[in-house]
Amino acid sequence: MKGLILSGGKGTRLRPLTYTSAKQLVPVANKPVLFYGIEAIAAAGIRDIGIVVGDTQAEIRAAVGDGSRWGVRIEYIEQDAPRGLAHAVKISRPFIGDDPFVMYLGDNLLNKGITHFVEEFVREKPAAQILLTRVPDPQMFGVAELDNGAVVRLVEKPKEPKSDLALVGVYMFGPQVFESVHNITPSFRNELEITDAIQDLIDRGLTVRPHIVQGWWKDTGKLEDMLEANRLILDTLERRVDGEVDAESRIEGKVVVEAGAKVERSVIRGPAIIGRGAQIAHAYVGPFTSIGADVEIRDSEVEHSIVLEGSSIRDLANRVIDSLIGRNVRIYRIPVKPSAYRFMLGDNSEVGIRW
Ligand code: DAU
Repeated sequence: MKGLILSGGKGTRLRPLTYTSAKQLVPVANKPVLFYGIEAIAAAGIRDIGIVVGDTQAEIRAAVGDGSRWGVRIEYIEQDAPRGLAHAVKISRPFIGDDPFVMYLGDNLLNKGITHFVEEFVREKPAAQILLTRVPDPQMFGVAELDNGAVVRLVEKPKEPKSDLALVGVYMFGPQVFESVHNITPSFRNELEITDAIQDLIDRGLTVRPHIVQGWWKDTGKLEDMLEANRLILDTLERRVDGEVDAESRIEGKVVVEAGAKVERSVIRGPAIIGRGAQIAHAYVGPFTSIGADVEIRDSEVEHSIVLEGSSIRDLANRVIDSLIGRNVRIYRIPVKPSAYRFMLGDNSEVGIRW
């Protein structure tokens, strides 16, 4: 059994962050989304993992390395452009050979892992096994139609969905899928769709087993989804305070303060994580907040937000909420008149001022 993680693509919905960084490396609870996928595959006992990479490959290679950190072997598979999930499967044939494999979309998060899903596939040996969950907005996903528990039809992003069962970004395949990815043609969005390849398996009379997700699942492609994933993961953390906290500070609930972080005259209300080297001074860090490494929060309040490495927030009069702040961003107050906003923002930045 092999693992295939898809970590190419463009990440347009997380711009401007994804101009400079791969969307699969945006951290949730201070850990890149992609690492959760690698861990889930390793936990299912799979040792050989191929990662499909595109434009952002240098950064992904640097962050992930050869996999020894997780006790797995990682090979990189270069995709020239994001031509679709089935295209990614097609170019991975030399790595996969005739082995069965689990395909995992690098921006997906599943809290219960994939071990049961893999075990079921090994036991039942279908041509493919798909993971499904009920969603309120099925038109945003691949959608499955079941009849008596069997998958009869799959449609990618249907305008009029026939069910609310969305395809989750984890799939299992036997070698029959390679013929299917050759049989299909590009879709309305000019991609070779994996949903069409799975439909081809069904049309050839092969078995496609559905498996309903246990626990929660998140596709972290958008800001709201990132924040929700962050909330869900932070909630699972165990309290651990390795950094320095002075006597005037209060640490409430599930909070991780990493070694080398410093908290002074502040309140940290969990679930929250404070990364290594962060400095929190005369500040409030509220629930569901991830503060990255070497971040400074001074005389300010931050809640329900993700702040990436090296950024600083100082002297703000209002609380920062529901925000995703990139690396090395500076937000501060200049105490001179006239009072006004002064911005220097990259393309596609977003600033929301609540009154
Ligand atoms: O998240 C679940 C959904 O994922 C499914 O319900 C859909 O059926 C499936 O098509 C997929 O839809 P998305 O539109 O969300 O896929 P996205 O373009 O975001 O790509 C998913 C991951 O695969 C992402 O980490 C980027 C990577 N990728 C994508 C393409 C198109 C590649 O590595 N190569 C590619 O060519």
